[in-house]
Amino acid sequence: MQKILDLISEEMRKAFEAAGYDGDLGKVTLSNRPDLCEYQCNGAMAGAKKYHKAPLAIAQEVAGQLAESGVFAEVSAAAPGFLNLKVKASFVRDYLRQMQESDKFGLEPPEKRKKIIVDYGGANVAKPLHVGHLRPAIIGESVKRICRFAGHDVIGDIHMGDWGLQMGLVITELRRRQPDLVYFDENYAGEYPAEAPFTIAELEEIYPTASAKSKEDAAYKAEAMEATHKLQSGERGHRALWNHIMRVSVEDLKKNYDSLDVSFDLWKGESDVQELIPEMVDMLKKGGYAYESDGALVVDVKEETDTKEVPPCMILKSDGAALYNTTDLATIMDRMAKYHPDKMIYVTDKRQDLYFEQIFRCAKKTGLVNEDTELVHIGNGTMNGRDGKPFKTREGGVMRLEHLIREIDEEMLRKIRENAGTKGYEIDAAEAEETAKVVGLAAVKYGDLSNQAAKDYIFDVDRFTSFEGDTGPYILYTIVRIKSILSKYAEQDGDLTELVIKEAANDSEKSLMLELAKFNAMAETAYEEAAPHRVCAYIYDIANAFNHFYHETKILTEEDAERKKGWIALLKLTKDILEVCIDLLGFSAPERM
Ligand code: ARG
Repeated sequence: MQKILDLISEEMRKAFEAAGYDGDLGKVTLSNRPDLCEYQCNGAMAGAKKYHKAPLAIAQEVAGQLAESGVFAEVSAAAPGFLNLKVKASFVRDYLRQMQESDKFGLEPPEKRKKIIVDYGGANVAKPLHVGHLRPAIIGESVKRICRFAGHDVIGDIHMGDWGLQMGLVITELRRRQPDLVYFDENYAGEYPAEAPFTIAELEEIYPTASAKSKEDAAYKAEAMEATHKLQSGERGHRALWNHIMRVSVEDLKKNYDSLDVSFDLWKGESDVQELIPEMVDMLKKGGYAYESDGALVVDVKEETDTKEVPPCMILKSDGAALYNTTDLATIMDRMAKYHPDKMIYVTDKRQDLYFEQIFRCAKKTGLVNEDTELVHIGNGTMNGRDGKPFKTREGGVMRLEHLIREIDEEMLRKIRENAGTKGYEIDAAEAEETAKVVGLAAVKYGDLSNQAAKDYIFDVDRFTSFEGDTGPYILYTIVRIKSILSKYAEQDGDLTELVIKEAANDSEKSLMLELAKFNAMAETAYEEAAPHRVCAYIYDIANAFNHFYHETKILTEEDAERKKGWIALLKLTKDILEVCIDLLGFSAPERM
């Protein structure tokens, strides 16, 4: 379906042409003065110079052409030469009817279906997920869904940190605690046990312990580096222990991501591409891209137009060891060979902005990707506490993700009970808890996604869980309200089939319809900009427009049955659209709350 603004502009273009002016002047935008009109066109002002004519005269001539228009109900020329526009209620009605009948409410499939890899989450094995992992997970999940909805072929990859020093640290601590484990016996040639010699609870405690010890004890750190080296060079026992750590840790990560409704198609990690590194290094050397600098192997990536210093991309350290960079480049090589992506989108903390700039330049320059492969980095800002500093626990430590979610769920539960109390209905304990989880997730995700990704924001439990304002619970409350009207209507009149949208009977109804009509334009922009906040802004406007309409209109007691059914049709479309949108954001609505 064409976008509503394009349809309106087309009508205006014809009028400019009929009046003898350049049709390009007929571009229509949303009104800057919603009190006066719904849309506006400033083309007469732009044309005044070209045609040596007063803008108001041009505007009046164009308005004259639109007297019989099927699109505009009102076209008024206002000084100094604006065209203030209101569209016909029948035009909006027809547009919404078409949306109702179209796939994806009229979002056109892309001209070319792209293969897109979204790299997000970025969890590190053997370390518990903390609040720093929340944003890349939430944003990445939504970006993945938005790309998929836009009609592309999308793969989500977690790209775990599973190969670095943290592995050596865990192994070292295990060795200190259980030196007799068979994994440490270099002469052992038999099969290793199938059971891991630790539980997830132990594993979570082991890493921080080991990490703290290594900072104080140089010998301990050296041992951990040695263990890392052994693992990376394929020593059997270390490899077997690593497999245990992976299994136990990944299972736990999956549980955590599940509770966030975040899922990945690929659970690949840094370890998966280690074997490709020698081949890649060889290629970079042979191509004349990589050279030695102070013993390290680097590729220059600075460009003439740079206004800031962009240091070379380091491929190997002077001791020959691979780094974070090396693995990311090898992963790009691997993805190109296996999946042939047209586009790769990375979601990480924005402190990695420069890093990804280097990686992308290096990949382009050395031909690891094609010239037209799109490489996009979405750098997210920090989630801060109310003091404006990175979010911490009350004791000042790093907050674990599970604890943060629990805190939100508890507050949500309190508000849900309170709400039931004021409304005077009973809510059973199990249902309240289930609902608190669903709404709590919406609170966290919406609180995050309604901000532009690159901006920092303040995590405010009280505000995020509020049923009023620009919040997830407010959006859900609106959906639940519509659901309840629809089910009451079904009980009254029974018939929810053949719901046909009617012309708006009043301004608030028309406003709601005009907001809904922006769907395909919104979905397209959200995809192009990889910007979930566009979806949030859209549904917030809709929720406001709906609630305004709802407060002005007695829907269920309306006596004109046809009128009533038209409203029910509009409500149903509003609900369907809101539900698709929250699914793009990665959460869902309860039946009641
Ligand atoms: N594991 C990394 C971290 O915790 C994030 C990985 C992001 N993805 C990537 N391809 N580098 O910082």
